[in-house]
Amino acid sequence: MRLKLVALACTLSVAACSQAQIAPASSIPTRQSSEEARIADLLSRMSLERKVAQLIQPQINSFTAADMERYRFGSYLNGGNGGPYGDEYAPASEWLKLADEMWVASTRPLPGDEPAIPVMWGTDAVHGHTNVVGATIFPHNIALGATRDPEIVRQIGAATATEIEVTGIDWNFSPTVAVARDDRWGRTYESYSENPQLVAQMGAALVEGLQGRRSADDFLGQGRVLATAKHFFGDGGTERGVDQGDVNGDIEQLKAIHAVPYPAAIDADVQTIMASFNSINGRKMHGNEALLTGVLRGELGFDGLVVGDWNGHGQIKGCTNVDCPQALLAGLDIYMVPDDWKALLENLVAQVKDGTIPMARLDEAVGRVLRAKLRAGILDGPRPSQRANAGDYAKLGSAAHRAVAREAVAKSQVILKNDGVLPLKTGAHVLVAGTAADNIAQASGGWTLTWQGGGDLDNDRFPGATSIYQAIAAEALASGGRATLSEDGAAPAEDFDVAIVVFGEAPYAEFAGDRKDLAFRDEEGLELLRKFDAAGVPTVAVFLSGRPMWVNRELNAADAFVASWLPGSEGAGVSDILFGKRPATGKLSFSWPANCTGMPLNSAEGALFPFGYGRSLGDTSALPTLDETCAALAEGPSRELFGSGRLADGVVANAGEGALPNLIGNAGGITARGYDREAQEDAREITFAPGSSLRLVQSGDNTGAYRITYEVSAKPTAPVTLLIGDRRIDITQEMIVAEGKSWREMVLTEACAGTLGNTIGFASETVFTIRIATIERFDSEDGAQCSF
Ligand code: BGC
Ligand code: BGC
Repeated sequence: MRLKLVALACTLSVAACSQAQIAPASSIPTRQSSEEARIADLLSRMSLERKVAQLIQPQINSFTAADMERYRFGSYLNGGNGGPYGDEYAPASEWLKLADEMWVASTRPLPGDEPAIPVMWGTDAVHGHTNVVGATIFPHNIALGATRDPEIVRQIGAATATEIEVTGIDWNFSPTVAVARDDRWGRTYESYSENPQLVAQMGAALVEGLQGRRSADDFLGQGRVLATAKHFFGDGGTERGVDQGDVNGDIEQLKAIHAVPYPAAIDADVQTIMASFNSINGRKMHGNEALLTGVLRGELGFDGLVVGDWNGHGQIKGCTNVDCPQALLAGLDIYMVPDDWKALLENLVAQVKDGTIPMARLDEAVGRVLRAKLRAGILDGPRPSQRANAGDYAKLGSAAHRAVAREAVAKSQVILKNDGVLPLKTGAHVLVAGTAADNIAQASGGWTLTWQGGGDLDNDRFPGATSIYQAIAAEALASGGRATLSEDGAAPAEDFDVAIVVFGEAPYAEFAGDRKDLAFRDEEGLELLRKFDAAGVPTVAVFLSGRPMWVNRELNAADAFVASWLPGSEGAGVSDILFGKRPATGKLSFSWPANCTGMPLNSAEGALFPFGYGRSLGDTSALPTLDETCAALAEGPSRELFGSGRLADGVVANAGEGALPNLIGNAGGITARGYDREAQEDAREITFAPGSSLRLVQSGDNTGAYRITYEVSAKPTAPVTLLIGDRRIDITQEMIVAEGKSWREMVLTEACAGTLGNTIGFASETVFTIRIATIERFDSEDGAQCSF
């Protein structure tokens, strides 16, 4: 109770919260003796191999139903890029089919007295069940923080749980309760707020929505799924906002910010917590016994299940993805081991046998998995397709769920400037401009159908959704006016009463979204705003972003400015505010920066708009002209074509006739997959079919020599060629020499390549695999030689 009061006070000011102390959860769920007897009985009849298998969580495309029947994993997941049977756009019925298939394989009777334990499936439904085509796409957490409305978040949780159940899935890896303190972090949008108490309040509300309340009859019942508070802890506190990075400082002070949401989630009976990738004072959380066990279990009283993150255990010093007793010993219960499950399982079995891992620790972890399954009804329930809501496809993206999303969107819009152009006048002729205006993928951000979102996901991929433009058009018509989409703004300005320019960040997820500053560089929106302004047409800027950014130029150019965040599939929530159909009540959940450096603010000082800022539609007080200087803007574009798991802006990967967005996927005989070099999928493993070729084409003015960091695990047996500018250079010998030599650099200058041009690639006449970590350009000395 005390916690809730503090939380309310904190919605008004960050300063009032900074003193808040972290208190243990007040209502720790007690174990029930009937449950415990059942668990003890099951444990007593399980073989060592099957106990260990309960702790192994592979991803759907790395094992078959036969593997499931043989090994009996306790759980599995679909990653952000994984769909059933290798199709990430598979219809909902295929998701359900896979759930059934795996459940059947997991429950085939075992010899003797050994119990068969039904498997459970976990997914990242972090803003709705958005891995699945047709699901309602709710706004990302940063927007929900701006609503200040835990009740709408609870409703979102309930709607999401129902949509998850439609596809036969049991477990959601959500809510993210990160307290993002440096907005350069690529996961800022997954954070409800920079304010720990606001995060605590919203995170707990989502848990209650997903799982139901323990006091209610439907706790983990029909229309409810298991929730996960993640990532414990410190994910939002890394130095410079580097994803998976280092958190440093006095541990009590760190807890007073980053651990605050956990007691609230535990109070709300969250059944699982995910360990974080980051380290704290030099120790990775996955292997940090003092924090994972001492603090989480001891101080905070968490009695549920601790799941690891994507090969997070492999990042512990002394561990690999396949060998890591340290994580279990430190307090992790489930290993999320997407691909290397077999070797990890075998090693863990051996480590229990040789005493490295005490049987008691194994039993404790397995007991926690069984307890979660028992409480969620998985242990005794029917196969997925026979459960509540399963196969009820009308509930996926239902009108009722979309109405909840629309309301949340409207409540999350934050008005930063309004000279009086908002609300739009009835009967107005509205020009809608910007390539983001009719782009549902961009409005949805990362974790939408694909891991990174965006790319080539066009509106056809979002049945039932409404783009911002479509919503404006419908509302304009209903109010006796009309709207015209002119993405490039070429429509004659004099025909219109007002221009709405929709623009913002291209989608990203996790580390691919890390930035070195907060300058918003793309000038499409700025040019449109200035052009309409020059033509005397009043303008409204609608800014789509996963974080506050330095947009002083756009704020100056526009007559009204709306921070719209990542609203998702219900664009009508945006038009509701623009047309004044609903009052504007959204308040910033993050401080908005006055300069572009990206240095953390987290307080009123140095903020252009403080935490809590947000105008009503009636507030038309003038915003003074803002300083437009930003040193970072002068630095010019990055010279990396590919690095940190991401193709740079303006670089396209082509394989024959096909494109490979972000250098992942299959096209033209090329198979490119994410490969973990130093971080997850920070590199690519690219396999060529005989006769195939891959080219990276750069637009813009990137020049200079090339440096490629690569690794070859098996030498080619027929020619491999480098394609550079209009030359072809035979590099077969290079590739043969590189075999098994780990990561190497290849440097290409004019000495071997002639004109370097703006295209680089490879062609192979044989099946050939190369791993690439970075491709960059740099200024070489005159006459510098190539590396071969
Ligand atoms: C993400 C997964 C995703 C994968 C890409 C991981 O880092 O967490 O959800 O599917 O990368 O395949
Ligand atoms: C992310 C988690 C996610 C997991 C599974 C990881 O990379 O950090 O938030 O739950 O992948 O997709």
